[in-house]
Amino acid sequence: MSSVQKNSVPRQKQAKFQIEIIWVALAIAIFGGFALALHLSFLIGFNLSLGKGFAGLIQTHGHLQLIGWAGLFIIGISLHFIPRLSSVPISEFKPIKQILWLIGGGLLLRLVSHTVLPYLEGHVLFVPIDWLVATSGLIEWYGILIYLSLLIGTIWGIDDTSKRPGLLSVRPFFGMMVVGFFLYATVNMVLLIRMALNKNVVVNQGWNEFAIGVFTGMVLLPVAFAFSIRMFPLYLRLPAADWGVHRVAYLYLIGFGLQMLTSIPLNLGWVTHYLSDAGMLVRGSVILYVVWKLDVLTRVQEPWTVHRELQPSPDRRPTRPNIPDYGEFGRFERLVYAAYAWLVLGALAEMLIGGFGLFRYPLSIGSDAVRHIYLLGFITNLILGMAVRMIPGFIGKRQIASTKLVDATFWLANTAAVGRVLILLLPSGVFEVIPAIAVVVETAFGLSGILGLGAVVCLAVNLWKTAHVNHPKFS
Ligand code: HEM
Repeated sequence: MSSVQKNSVPRQKQAKFQIEIIWVALAIAIFGGFALALHLSFLIGFNLSLGKGFAGLIQTHGHLQLIGWAGLFIIGISLHFIPRLSSVPISEFKPIKQILWLIGGGLLLRLVSHTVLPYLEGHVLFVPIDWLVATSGLIEWYGILIYLSLLIGTIWGIDDTSKRPGLLSVRPFFGMMVVGFFLYATVNMVLLIRMALNKNVVVNQGWNEFAIGVFTGMVLLPVAFAFSIRMFPLYLRLPAADWGVHRVAYLYLIGFGLQMLTSIPLNLGWVTHYLSDAGMLVRGSVILYVVWKLDVLTRVQEPWTVHRELQPSPDRRPTRPNIPDYGEFGRFERLVYAAYAWLVLGALAEMLIGGFGLFRYPLSIGSDAVRHIYLLGFITNLILGMAVRMIPGFIGKRQIASTKLVDATFWLANTAAVGRVLILLLPSGVFEVIPAIAVVVETAFGLSGILGLGAVVCLAVNLWKTAHVNHPKFS
C-alpha cells in the first residue's frame, strides 16, 4: 500500500508530526546558514580581509538558508498540514524519515565540503572533495524528489475536489512550489556537477542567481501565501479567503515569469528588459493585493467569525483583542505583522525598480537588498512567528514555553533585518553629507548576522523547552 492514501480507500491515520525535521532545520540554521551569515556580515561590516573562501561561503550560506532553514520548515509543516487540508493522509513515517536523512545529510555534506574546498586548491584532496560537494547536490535532489512525490499524492490525490474548496483555491500556489522546488534542486545539482568537472570552487554565478530567484519566487512566496490564506483566519481572526485566490495566483505567476526573463543567463534580446520590468510591476501589485485581501496589516474587513453559525456563549473567557488565544503563544502576531510589513517594502521596492526601469532609468536598489527583505524580513519573521503559534499544538502542547523568548525573537530578527538591508537602501549621497551615518550602518551590518543567529537560537530554545519540559498551565 502506498504511503499516500487516496480518500476513496478506507481512512488511514495521518503520521504524527515529525518534529525531527524542525530540529534539523534549526541545527542547520544555527550551525550553518546563520553562523555563516554572522561570519560574512562581520567581515564585510568591519572591513576585515574576506579570505579566499569568501565566494564559496556566500553560496553555501545562501543554499543552507534556502533549503535548510526555510525549505526544511516548509517540508515539516506541509507534510503535516496539507494532508489534513486535502483529507489524503500520509500514513507512513518511512518516506518522511528518508526525506529528512537525505536532505539533512546532503546539507551537512555541502556545509563541510564546500567550506573547506577553497583551502585545498592545489592539494591532492581537492578533486575528491569537489566531487563530495557535487554528491551533496545529488543526495538533496533525491530527498526533494521523494518529498515532492509525497506532496503531489496528497494535493492531487483527491477524488472529489468540490469537497475541498479550501485546498482547491490555494492549489496553484502549491503547484508553483512543486515546480520551483524541483527546478531549484535540479539546477543546484547540475551546477555542482559542472563545478566538480571544471575543478572550480564556486558554481556558475549567473545560473546560481537564477536558481535562487526561482526558489524565492516560486517556492517561498507562493507557499507563504498559501499557508497565510488558509491559516490566518484561524490564528489571527482575519477574513476568510473568498476573493478568487486562483486567479490572483496565476497573475502572480505571469508577473514572476516575466520578471525572471532577465535572470536567465542567456542572451534573449533587449525586449526582455522591458518585459522583466513590467513583470516586476505586475508581481509587486499582486503581492500588495494579497496583503490587502489578507487584511493582516490593515484589519478593516470583518473577520470570518462574524459569519459563523455557532457564536461562543457570552460567559466564555474573552480572548486577546483580535486574536483568538489568551497569550499562551506569546505575542507571535508581531512577528507576522513585521513579516508582512517587510513583504510590502520588498514589493514596493521592486515596483519602483520596474517602474523606473521601463523608462530606462535604473535605480540603485541592489538585488541583494530586495532578496534579504524577502528572505530575512518576510520569510524568516513568518517562520519565527508561525512556528511558536503552530508547533506546540502539533506536538500536543497547549502553550509555548516562554513568551519572553518570543518577544526577544521579534526584536532580534527585526534589528538584524534592518541592519542587513539599511546600508543597501540608503542613497550614497547620505553618507557623503553625514559620514557618521556610514559608521552606524556599517556597524549595524556587521552585527546583523549575530542578531539573526540570536533570533533563531531563541526559537530553538523555546521550542526545545516546549517539547521537553512540562510547564504549569498558562492562565
Ligand atoms: C542576519 C541574517 C543574514 C545575514 C547577515 C546575511 C548575509 C549575507 C551576505 C553577506 C551575503 C552575500 C551578499 C553579496 O553577495 O553581496 C548573503 C547572500 C545570500 N543570502 Fe544572506 N544573510 C542573512 C540571512 C539570510 C536568510 C535568512 C536567507 C534565506 C532564507 C539568506 C539567503 C541568502 C542568499 C540566497 C544569498 C545569495 C547567495 C549566493 O549568491 O549564492 N540570507 N547573505
